[in-house]
Order: sequence, then structure tokens, then C-alpha cells
Amino acid sequence: VSALLGSALTAIGLVTAAATAQAAPITIKFSHVVAETTPKGVAALEFKRCAEAALPGKVVVEVYPNSQLFNDDNVLEAMLLGDVHMAAPSLSKFEDYTKAFQVFDLPFLFKDLAEVDKFQQSPKGQELLQSMADKGLLGLGYWHNGMKQMSANKPLRVPEDANGLKFRIQQSDVLEAQFEQLGAVPIKKPFSEVFTLLQTNAIDGAENPWSNIYSQKFHEVQDYITETNHGVLDYLLVTSAEFWNGLPDDVRPQLDDCVAQATKAGNDKALDIAMADRDKIKAAGTSEILQLTDEELAKWQEAMKPVWEKFEGDIGKDVIEAAAAIN
Ligand code: LMR
Repeated sequence: VSALLGSALTAIGLVTAAATAQAAPITIKFSHVVAETTPKGVAALEFKRCAEAALPGKVVVEVYPNSQLFNDDNVLEAMLLGDVHMAAPSLSKFEDYTKAFQVFDLPFLFKDLAEVDKFQQSPKGQELLQSMADKGLLGLGYWHNGMKQMSANKPLRVPEDANGLKFRIQQSDVLEAQFEQLGAVPIKKPFSEVFTLLQTNAIDGAENPWSNIYSQKFHEVQDYITETNHGVLDYLLVTSAEFWNGLPDDVRPQLDDCVAQATKAGNDKALDIAMADRDKIKAAGTSEILQLTDEELAKWQEAMKPVWEKFEGDIGKDVIEAAAAIN
């Protein structure tokens, strides 16, 4: 009897193990470098909420904010190795994989987020999402942050004020050229290092959207922020083609829906978050926000304009014209 019982228990054990194995959820690691209160942070959490609600027990989404898992210099490599499955690096950080997104770094191409959005949703903008297919990376959509402002430890009113100052920039040759146009010294550094670089005066300034300035407390270590809106900082929601296309057919469509839902959630809130964070920075009173006159603004535009021509070959005249025509 006990032998019979033993084998029956073993059989039950095996069945349970098989059921457990079958039910093991797919874990999706989502890595990003900003705070959870920023538009990207909000969208990533919405993706997690949606995916886990639509696919209970089938999918678990682990969101790692604040460069906890990877920074933008190594996240795409890690994605191709399967160590992380989703990320949304800024469009400035894909140059090693494609030059297509350089268009978004061109200074003063877009007046505001609405113009950026219009271009992203246009046929040309949508075409760019597939520009890394040959590298195994799949663009799932554009996520907004906002327009960038210039900050420094001295007031920047005209381009000459930036002369000789050291600015932290993202990993982008276009942004490098933009600051060189000003006679400034651009320094490519990971986002996670910016606060300390500013605090220790290793650099003099930076360019960031309002939500990044506020959530990283850059306004506590910069005396002046000039409201230049000279460029955009937006993101590409990206995954590995092998991973995404290999997802089971009863999972991928729901995740596609959640991508759309998360994209909408973040993008709809981006401008409100930017304006609220701008107000909070103003209220904090640790740095002065400078407004430019039309004449001053025109000087910045003129100083930076040669960057367009410099990158026309890489980006493609058709892409620049398509973006410029929308605006
Ligand atoms: C930066 O490096 O400044 C940004 O790309 C960070 C981010 O993800 O907003």
C-alpha cells in the first residue's frame, strides 16, 4: 500500500511540476534611467500595469528606473544579448545603430511637442521606427519627454555667453556639433553622472527638459536656466526583434495593446508634467529662469543653424524636409 501511495504521490508531484512549469510567467525586464515621476517613468509603469492585468500569471514586467539595471551606454547591447527586454533611450542615443534619429537632435527644427508629435506620426516618422531592423532592434513607438532648456552657472542670454563653458551632452554627434557652434566644450556623459558633475563644477552647464531638471534636482546645482526650447528630448520605445517576435501568439497582441495604452498615457501627460515641474523649479527659487526676447532667440537660432547642413548627408535631405514641412 505504501509503495502504491508513494508512486501515486510521485505522479501527483510530476503533474504539479508540469503544470507549474507550463504556468511559469514570461518576465519582461524594462530598464530606464529616469525617475518614475517623469513621462517615461509613468509610461513604463502603465505598461507594467496593463500587461499584468491583461495577462495575469502569464507575464510579469519588472521596471528598473534610475539606471538601476543599465545605463543608456550599455542597454542596447544588453538587449541584443537578452539580458533586458524593453527600454526607451532618448532618440539621441541610437547613433551606433542608425543615423535616422539624428533628425530629432537638430536645433530649432521643432517649435514644441505638438510639432514633434506631428512628425513622429507622419509616414516618414513612422518609417524611421523600422530603421534598426537589420540590427535586430524593433521600434515600438515614440515616447515624449519635452523640449530642452539650457542651464549653466552663469546667465545665458546670447550664444556668446556659452563660449568656453563645459556642457554635459548625451551620446550624440549632433549635440556635440551644436555646442561646438557656440564655442562651448561638449562632454558626453551618462545621465546618472550629471548631478555630481554639476555639483562639483566639473562642468558648467547642461541641456535638459523640465522633468529631468526637476526630478534630478539639477536646479539646485545650476544658478540659471534659460528657457530656450531649442531642441527636443524624446524616446524610442525599443525591444529586441527576436524577443518580441518570439512571444507566444496569445501574448504578443495584448502586449501590443499595452504598448499603445502606455504610449498614450505618457504622451498625454508629458506637457502637463513639464509645465508643473517648471512651476516647481520656479517655486524652489534655487535657480533663476531666464526668458529670451525674440531678438535673443533669433541669435541662438542663427548660431546653431549650420548644424543642419553638417548632418544633412547622414540624416537625409528628404527626412529633414519632411520634418521642416510639417512645422
Ligand atoms: C539624458 O541622458 O539626458 C536623457 O536621455 C535621460 C533620459 O532618459 O531622459
